[in-house]
Amino acid sequence: MSKPRLFVTRLIPQIGLDMVQSLSADYDIEVWPNPLPPAYDVLLQKVNGLTGLLCLLTDKIDATLMDAAGPQLKVISQMAVGFDNIDVPAATARHLPIGNTPGVLTDATADFAWTLLMAAARRVVEGDKFTRAGQWQTWGPIDFLGPDVSGATLGIVGFGRIGQAVAKRAQGFDMRVLYFDPKRQPEAERAYHTQYADLDTVLREADFLSIHTTLSKDTYHYFDDAKLKLMKSSAVLINTSRGPVVDPAALYRALTAGIIAYAALDVTEPEPIKPDDPLLTLDNIIVAPHIASASFTARNKMAAMSAANLIAGLKGERLPNCVNPQVYA
Ligand code: DGY
Repeated sequence: MSKPRLFVTRLIPQIGLDMVQSLSADYDIEVWPNPLPPAYDVLLQKVNGLTGLLCLLTDKIDATLMDAAGPQLKVISQMAVGFDNIDVPAATARHLPIGNTPGVLTDATADFAWTLLMAAARRVVEGDKFTRAGQWQTWGPIDFLGPDVSGATLGIVGFGRIGQAVAKRAQGFDMRVLYFDPKRQPEAERAYHTQYADLDTVLREADFLSIHTTLSKDTYHYFDDAKLKLMKSSAVLINTSRGPVVDPAALYRALTAGIIAYAALDVTEPEPIKPDDPLLTLDNIIVAPHIASASFTARNKMAAMSAANLIAGLKGERLPNCVNPQVYA
């Protein structure tokens, strides 16, 4: 009799693969070997008859896919904290637990938001291009000027774990930190010397605006023309959350019309951004390829945590990190 099957949708850090491979006596395990994710129709075939799926944020996991898998599917474990690629209500309706990896990438992501903030403020990417192009001829007293970070106002939209970790780092720069979140966080406010403000105030007063909202139908294109117009013309917008929370056409208009000064994105809409995207023609933007969590420690912990969720689900145990605990009600 054939063994139940597991599918891992990409090569993940070895620590996680080893944990999954430790199940090989009882399961047939397939790991997608290609650097690019399986196409949706391939994924549909792979899940047919599957017992456990370890997936990534690049995989579309919808009701059709869950039904294509069949009722023996016990767990979907995602190696990411975000899960907007997964139809969670559809999974819950099928009593299917979904795992994710919260907490372990908080520091890496906050560090990277700061990397983008500093790189944008001090025009590091432009400077590097200039040097490589052989244009550096002398020390220029008025070249590459940028806004001061120390003492500036940092606005944070979305004050969960990562937003708070960004605020914590701002203390070292003597910044005034304002945040907006639908849920006020009085303890974190005190801990990180942060002030709560309504969204318009945060947008109007921020010299640097760091976005940490989840993507949902309510936050899709949340940062649109109207919101960007509230910002200072000298402001820098940093997005390390999900690309579609910022309307890319509105951002292009804002960056070209001087509505804001600069943007630094780790996430785009779509992902990957197309090479001919108008945003990539601009000098006042930095675009990184969704690498905020790409520290050795964070990615190893994400891999181990997603493997632990998968293993728990296969055993019929509660996932250590489950996004739809209603399935246990
Ligand atoms: C996540 O885990 O959701 C991150 O976006 C990965 O970098």
